[in-house]
Amino acid sequence: MNQSIATLKNELIQMVEAANDLSALEHARVTALGKKGRITDLMKNLGSMDPEARKAMGAALNELKDEIATLIEKQETGLKHQALNDRLAHETVDITLSPRPERSGHIHPISQTMEELVSIFADMGFSVAEGPDIEDDFHNFTALNFPPGHPAREMHDTFYLPDDPDETGEAARKLLRTHTSTVQIRTMMGQKPPIRIICMGRTYRSDYDMTHTPMFHQMEGLVIDKNTHMGHLKGCLMDFLRAYFQIDNLPVRFRPSFFPFTEPSAEVDIGCSRKDGGLKIGAGDSWLEILGCGMVHPNVIKNCGLDPAEYQGFAFGMGIERLAMLKYGIPDLRTFFESDVRWLQYYGFDPLARPNRATGE
Ligand code: DAH
Repeated sequence: MNQSIATLKNELIQMVEAANDLSALEHARVTALGKKGRITDLMKNLGSMDPEARKAMGAALNELKDEIATLIEKQETGLKHQALNDRLAHETVDITLSPRPERSGHIHPISQTMEELVSIFADMGFSVAEGPDIEDDFHNFTALNFPPGHPAREMHDTFYLPDDPDETGEAARKLLRTHTSTVQIRTMMGQKPPIRIICMGRTYRSDYDMTHTPMFHQMEGLVIDKNTHMGHLKGCLMDFLRAYFQIDNLPVRFRPSFFPFTEPSAEVDIGCSRKDGGLKIGAGDSWLEILGCGMVHPNVIKNCGLDPAEYQGFAFGMGIERLAMLKYGIPDLRTFFESDVRWLQYYGFDPLARPNRATGE
């Protein structure tokens, strides 16, 4: 290597190694590799050299540049590590300090509602199941009896993920789950009946306005056994709705509907009254749609490897934000996700309160 480059190299190495804090290291980086740095300067001269010399010098300079850049990176890692250790050694947090009452945290209404749902369904013998947010076409649609090309697929405004080169075929196509009904499939494929589960979690659809956000929460319920019938479905959901809204004689109505994964299917309304622009849940002359349900379609049971001649059951699904808005009088869905601490202070819950407390208690 050219003598002057060897000297420069030693000089730069010394400078980098002597940098004992991040700003000194940055200074060293600029001196060596910056726009007007020592190495950059030499590179600018390459153009005026004859081809042979330019080739040798160019290669040497590139090598030097890489070496110094690697050294700077190594020095930076060391300095950062050291800075963190210094902080850990000197900074302390006194966790015995009492909380400041004016800063007390609040439980988000979604978390509160989920706790209430778990507590009601746990009393009825349900356990909590989970499934992934990133799903595939099979669990979100096909296994739930949405055949390829079925128009109900279009209604879901699905977020698809880019194609995965390792996976081929429509069934493996990745997406963000559009409903928690996917967990019906995962549960039936993963455990033997009798099944009695609820699942709560995030769901996603490409939609945004007063009543839709691209991410929202749903709760799903599934019961599979040998003798489960529509009477069980009605009783279970009426008990649930009356417990959740804490109104013993809450009117509940089942209306025929359609979902690909249930047959027969129903939508459930609860009684309410609307006066002077206000909405009051309970006896009244009006109805409010609250959830979807039905007897699990034999095709879905078959798709999960169970025999529909032996097993049957029911399923239901609902939006958690809607349940929270109705019970706690929250008017705008979008505010749930704005992270406004004043909103949380107003609508949030005391962390030490027990779930399912009545409003205003
Ligand atoms: N998956 C439906 C939706 O997102 C909700 C639903 C309806 C779930 C009926 C169910 C059901 O389990 O039986 O709109």
